[in-house]
Amino acid sequence: MRRFLATLLTVIGGVAVVAGPAAPAHALDDGLARTPPMGFNNWNAFGCDVSEQLIKETADIFVAKGLQAAGYEYVNIDDCWSLKERDAETGRLVPDPVKFPSGIAGVASYVHGKGLKLGLYADAGTSTCAGYPGSLGHEELDAQTFAEWGVDYLKYDNCYNQSDGSQADYIRRYTAMRDALKKAARPIVFSICEWGSSQPWTWGSDVGHLWRTTGDISDDWTSLRSIIAQNAPLFPYAGPGHWNDPDMLEIGNGRLTPVENRTHMSMWAMMAAPLIIGTDLRVATAETLSILTNADLIGIDQDRLGVQGRVVANADGLLVLDKPLADGQRAIALYNSTDSLATVQVKATDTGLRRAGAYQLKDVWTGAVTQAKNVIEAAVPAHGTVVYKVRPIADPGIAPAVTVGASVGTVTPDAAAALSTTVTNRGSSPIRDLRVSVTGPAGWTATASTPARASSLPANGSLATTWSVQAPPDVTAGSYSLRVDASYVWGARHRKTDSSTLVATVVTAPVPGRRYLSTVLATSSTNAVGPVEIDQSNGGAGQGDGNLITVGGSVHNRGLGTTTGSEVRYYLGGRCTELTTGVGIDDEDKSGSKATFTVYADDAVAGSADATPGAAPVSLTADLTGAAWLRLVTTAAATAHTDWVAPVLTCGDGPVLPEERTLASFETDTEGWTIANADGGGTLSQTGAFHTHGSAGLLVQAPVNGNWFGRALASPVDLTGTNTLKVDLRSVDTGTVGEIAIQVGDGWSWCQGGQWTWTNAGASRTIRRDFDQISCPTGVTLDRSQVRAIWVFLNTGGAVQIDNFRAE
Ligand code: GLA
Repeated sequence: MRRFLATLLTVIGGVAVVAGPAAPAHALDDGLARTPPMGFNNWNAFGCDVSEQLIKETADIFVAKGLQAAGYEYVNIDDCWSLKERDAETGRLVPDPVKFPSGIAGVASYVHGKGLKLGLYADAGTSTCAGYPGSLGHEELDAQTFAEWGVDYLKYDNCYNQSDGSQADYIRRYTAMRDALKKAARPIVFSICEWGSSQPWTWGSDVGHLWRTTGDISDDWTSLRSIIAQNAPLFPYAGPGHWNDPDMLEIGNGRLTPVENRTHMSMWAMMAAPLIIGTDLRVATAETLSILTNADLIGIDQDRLGVQGRVVANADGLLVLDKPLADGQRAIALYNSTDSLATVQVKATDTGLRRAGAYQLKDVWTGAVTQAKNVIEAAVPAHGTVVYKVRPIADPGIAPAVTVGASVGTVTPDAAAALSTTVTNRGSSPIRDLRVSVTGPAGWTATASTPARASSLPANGSLATTWSVQAPPDVTAGSYSLRVDASYVWGARHRKTDSSTLVATVVTAPVPGRRYLSTVLATSSTNAVGPVEIDQSNGGAGQGDGNLITVGGSVHNRGLGTTTGSEVRYYLGGRCTELTTGVGIDDEDKSGSKATFTVYADDAVAGSADATPGAAPVSLTADLTGAAWLRLVTTAAATAHTDWVAPVLTCGDGPVLPEERTLASFETDTEGWTIANADGGGTLSQTGAFHTHGSAGLLVQAPVNGNWFGRALASPVDLTGTNTLKVDLRSVDTGTVGEIAIQVGDGWSWCQGGQWTWTNAGASRTIRRDFDQISCPTGVTLDRSQVRAIWVFLNTGGAVQIDNFRAE
């Protein structure tokens, strides 16, 4: 039987951090990276699938598509380029001859021939993150080898680091490679990649040219927002030759919206971040290339003053950065991390701009040029960033900056919703004959209930208007764009229209039937710590950082994890009749506080129960007949971790959806589960200590190097109509990763997902893989009607409990 090990490994920094001030370090004074490095790295788009061909093709594209001309220079190879063993005689790292037939030296000479530079990856530990040989203890030989090959840039990672977690150890491991590179006597940019674990900004400038400040980026908005929040405040630590590195770009990888891609480029430029492209340039769209080559932003990023934008305002998810430029202008970014259109502003005097009669603003994305009297402001779309290049001007003979702000409440098909607009003249002289209008999709109406016109607005004057918005009765749930236009006259007689688009969220009542409330989209939610979690406990401040809901020792894979002062709202539109739920304090809670759970049907209390730490879930039934809105509220004296356990919403008859098909529940012993790799080790037994189905689960002792646990099914199982495989898992004494694989078809081909979900010691998760995340060997199609075996991969040694392998 073949054994597949995933090669993609995402590491989340989890190493002890040493706090306390450190003496400001001196920049490596070697003339390298005087501006943030610009280039490409294969990891974000290709993971381990790197090759000579890819690197050469990328170098070709740098030249052909104008990226080199725009400033991109380094073509970088990430993890997985070497063989798994060092050369037995020389002890040197050996490039994989299949991936790199001309060796790293051959690729370097090709890349150099194009006037570009080559980057490589190594690790300050015993292995790289993907399990290739690490450089700890081999620093001099490896640095010498890299120099001989013609490497110009080294990304130095932090997996398998044997560290005691102290900052001193981090400094020692990275300094060893710095010194080795120095000794090798080739100019090599040294990129410290320890995920911000030991606050490298306090020591890195002495050691490397850049240092990662965060865990790995991923191609989604939550990751982007969190990285910006972590990296922006570190502005005092960056400068020529020593940069904060918020990780490589995800622009073009498909899961960020156009607005988010532009925010990514804008904020990286404002934060003087390395611009390392992370997308497949061979298939990059014109839009991706135009974002990556925006000349104003590259100019801002690469400005020779080398100052990372200072945070001059930071409240309510709105951030203003101010970056001085060598030509005397300043770049000012207005960033909106919230989920709705927001007006972001800063007084010119709160930035480094000198006092002036007016300021000229050039929008780096639209090219539009306007002037402002003394407030720099824009209505910024959700997740968007406006970047202005700003300079003082004497004679503002140009169009005023006019802000068109707006906000709208939740829209339902049944009642009018409130919308408000605010148009502000930020220019230095009055505007005249202002007319505001709101337009929606076909069938929508917007009626002003207060004046929507003004004969004139002075400098810094505003017109606020209230509107009533009605969606058509047959509207479906989703997001709809509404446009606000402000038409006015400026100067002698220039008529101009400025617009903003705001997104209205329409919610509709649930369709008839019964379903777990955790599968119904909430209209809004507030929570004391981080977001309300779906099908797990609240955990901490991050999203998805809870455990399986565990109350009084019983574990559940459906529910909502909240912390008191939480409120979760659902629109029912009078279509539902009942909510039945358990309520309880999660076993992860440390407050020891009792809590009260209250269910509101509109504004009336429809049910309420108190819960005590350690006690089993209390059941609660609430009559919701006729209610337009359902609200779930928890309150307590302290911040308690409050769970809604397996809540079911009834809006008609039928089974509780989504229906699941159980493939293993371990109610009758180990149900024939086996260990794939007999030599690899591991044991299996039934346990009553953990179950999310019935009254028993499976206890696995996993070997340090991992093994697959599972079984061949009696006959091929037909899972047509299901989309996801899931298994509930709790790691007992050490952390573990979970992965799902299946065997399909006549050839019993192994198909598996490429990503591992990490759980720490004592953590529990539902491990899930959608069928379309599971890939099969070339030539094999994943036939859902022919599933022959199911497997779970578990590693790192120690006990792991699993239950309820199922398809949904
Ligand atoms: C770590 C790094 C990533 C990437 C991978 C390669 O997770 O932070 O940027 O280099 O390793 O395995």
